[in-house]
Amino acid sequence: MSGKCVLGIDVGTSGCKILAVDESGKILGSAVEEYPCYAPREGWSEQDPGDWWNGVAKGLRKIMPSLAGKTVGAVGFSGQMHGMVALDADRNVVRRAILWNDQRTEKQCAEITEAAGGRDALLGITNNRMLTGYTGGKILWMKENEPENYAKTRYILNPKDYIRYRLCGEIATDVSDASGTGLYNVKERKWASGLMRKIGLDPGLFPKAVESTEAVGRVTREAAAQTGIPEGTVVAGGGGDAVISTTGLGLIKPGRVGVTLGTSGVVAMGLASFLPNPDGKLQVFCGNAPGTYNAMGVTLSAAGSYQWFRNALGDYEAARAKTEGVSAFRLLDDEASKVPPCSDGLVFLPYLTGERAPLNDPNAKGAFLGITARHRKGHFARAVLEGVAFSLKQVYDLIMSVNPGASSDEIVLAGGGANSPVWRRIFADTFGLPVRTVYGSAEGGSFGAALAAGVTAGIWPNLEATVPLIRPESRTEPVGANVPSYAAQYRKYGKFYDALKWSFSD
Ligand code: XUL
Repeated sequence: MSGKCVLGIDVGTSGCKILAVDESGKILGSAVEEYPCYAPREGWSEQDPGDWWNGVAKGLRKIMPSLAGKTVGAVGFSGQMHGMVALDADRNVVRRAILWNDQRTEKQCAEITEAAGGRDALLGITNNRMLTGYTGGKILWMKENEPENYAKTRYILNPKDYIRYRLCGEIATDVSDASGTGLYNVKERKWASGLMRKIGLDPGLFPKAVESTEAVGRVTREAAAQTGIPEGTVVAGGGGDAVISTTGLGLIKPGRVGVTLGTSGVVAMGLASFLPNPDGKLQVFCGNAPGTYNAMGVTLSAAGSYQWFRNALGDYEAARAKTEGVSAFRLLDDEASKVPPCSDGLVFLPYLTGERAPLNDPNAKGAFLGITARHRKGHFARAVLEGVAFSLKQVYDLIMSVNPGASSDEIVLAGGGANSPVWRRIFADTFGLPVRTVYGSAEGGSFGAALAAGVTAGIWPNLEATVPLIRPESRTEPVGANVPSYAAQYRKYGKFYDALKWSFSD
């Protein structure tokens, strides 16, 4: 096997994925390694950066022998966004990383917004609200609650940036992940140093932010020994997963909408130019191609809700999955498929870790509503899939309402959840639109990361040139009779949050 290939490393929440892609854009192989997530308190979410590195190194050691004879052109990255990785002067990890779905920073987010001069003034600087998931509030939280850790901290990185550091020794981030700190001037692609000073954070803590396709460094001898990637291999900028998954779907042309069903759910579209975000209901971040942007909204527990359901109530399926060598999710899908659309009236609210778009309520809680004696396990499984689709439909409606240029003739579905035929059907019927998957759809951010690395390696001149590689795969048409039933259930779903909101706060 000769020729060039590129590697895409996705530092996800449930685990990491390593993907190898050849010069024709074909996926040569992949490896997945899981690692734990800690919830030391209600609403908190943390991981150990050392676990990410061990997972990535193990996955690379698995995949590298299969690439013998090929030249690795570059290594690219995708990663869970907004996580706070704090390193000391010796570049050791100061504390566990605080993740994107952690909700402890409501107070600090309010302080940052006030210091900026209020929400509009903040939007004028960063084009984004300071949401509890974002990195900015977490750093301030550490400063206020763990002053000894803050005092030790010399570098703040996002998760994939820590893996990059371990591979090539360079401290850097990219413009899409920098956007997700909430401390970045997205329009001008530079750090909001004035805002940092106003809130008492040292701008020197933040690394240089490169474009996603830029080369940052080269794999060190030590990392080569640990991973099997040849020493000297080029290491690229990469991007935050929510942004680079959209790039991996070929959605860099403006107007087309992609939905990624990872632990979180993301509805996103590429933008050729800057989009003001007047009330800050969306996330508008830098895109992976220089000069481009990305508009999106995020549901915190998407495939994460189904994972919760499997863990909490799917012991039987998990045991069967082990003995039969199948996925517990597909067994739950089978149960869900036997239940009629709209789950005989059962509704699930997926706010298991609070909710971001469109509610922006860190205290929101999940719920099953409308339970009757006829409901069986399959109803609950289906209601989970439907509730996630409803939540993402709300985000989609929001994106459509603020983007006059958006077109809506189909939805491109991606992430692990796109593997589920019943979920694809539920999306088609809920959105009333055909749902398409494309080559690489199920790979999440790792495919986009590999394509961007291919640009760094000179395999493709730019990201536009990768779009023809992303061929259509499945297409699921909406079923006419189901569309009005789902529209009615969606309206009902939309009323439950307001009705229950009083019960969510402590
Ligand atoms: C994006 C976001 C999530 C995480 C999950 O804003 O919070 O998609 O990146 O991986």
